Amino acid sequence: MIETERLTLRRFTEADRDTVARWNADPDFTRHLSGAQTRAQSDAIFDRWAQHWDDRGLGILAVEWNESGALIGRVGPQFHRYWPRDPEVGWAFDPAWWGRGLATEAGAAAVAWGFGELGYARLVSITTEANTASRNVMAKLGFQLHERIPSEWGELWVHALDRE
Ligand SMILES: CC(C)(COP(=O)(O)OP(=O)(O)OC[C@H]1O[C@@H](n2cnc3c(N)ncnc32)[C@H](O)[C@@H]1OP(=O)(O)O)[C@@H](O)C(=O)NCCC(=O)NCCS
Repeated sequence: MIETERLTLRRFTEADRDTVARWNADPDFTRHLSGAQTRAQSDAIFDRWAQHWDDRGLGILAVEWNESGALIGRVGPQFHRYWPRDPEVGWAFDPAWWGRGLATEAGAAAVAWGFGELGYARLVSITTEANTASRNVMAKLGFQLHERIPSEWGELWVHALDRE
């Protein structure tokens, strides 16, 4: 469990499955991800997050709004299929919560966890050129463009941040 000024980061539990499925069915939320997902596809993603935690001892975290305890997004280092070398820090929030600096706040906490307790020397963050919002979060956290790699979703922009 990680606490920031406005947010709590914790592991997902079974009770979160419906919220995650709602996000994954939302075209705004998934525009720069893999597109809207069916319930079965969302459940498979949810199961993979849990498996990743079991296999690697780190993974995606649920983000709660401290004031109400509402589940509003996700963040975390997880190993990316296209970049197995370093953990990838990603973020995604319920569209109702965009534009309040929350991805930056949660992302900073995830980076601190990756370099601190988890002890990694380099973290990456991966997106497409079109995802300006996500690239802005990366820039605010100090990530710099490192490599562009081909993928099934087109070119992926791999940004890297090294521990000071
Ligand atoms: C990417 C995402 C997590 C950003 O969340 P957020 O909480 O709105 O981000 P922040 O408020 O911390 O914004 C960080 C910076 O990006 C800018 N920004 C946010 N949304 C933007 C947009 N749509 N276009 C351009 N810039 C944007 C903000 O202005 C801010 O910079 P500033 O503080 O200098 O103004 C959110 O848009 C999202 O969940 N998108 C869908 C999922 C996704 O694509 N995740 C990333 C996958 S790689």
